[in-house]
Amino acid sequence: MIRFVLIGLILAVILSSGCSGQEAAAENNEEPGESTYTAEQVTFYTLEDVQAHSDQGDCWLVIEGKVYDVTPFISSHPGGKAILEGCGIDATELFETRPMGSGTPHSDRARDRLKEYYIGEIKEE
Ligand code: HEM
Repeated sequence: MIRFVLIGLILAVILSSGCSGQEAAAENNEEPGESTYTAEQVTFYTLEDVQAHSDQGDCWLVIEGKVYDVTPFISSHPGGKAILEGCGIDATELFETRPMGSGTPHSDRARDRLKEYYIGEIKEE
């Protein structure tokens, strides 16, 4: 009889810890806000969010689904003001084709510099 009570107690402990674990996970899993939310430290943005940062003094751009705030880089961009054409939009094609310049993709060195300006990911809608 005592054996059954003990097994019952052990089961109750296991089940209740399982439930509270799930509740904690649900609490951490924030609902998407109006425009951004975080999940596992990644910030997600919509294209609309990016569009709100579309000039020389505040320039975000999207390249291959990743969002970059390149504002501090604009004045030192080797291609000069051409970068401004990418502000506030999905600039993947511009970055890869540079139609106003050489017509070629950016170098690996340029790609490497992107990391410094990464701020998040585009949220799939
Ligand atoms: C998406 C908008 C951008 C446009 C339209 C653009 C355009 C250009 C142009 C026209 C040049 C001059 C060389 C040529 O004529 O091919 C250039 C050079 C360069 N750009 Fe951009 N750029 C953009 C964004 C960026 C970003 C975000 C970075 C890095 C964070 C970057 C880094 C560089 C570097 C390092 C060069 C020197 C050449 C090379 O390494 O490829 N550019 N860019």
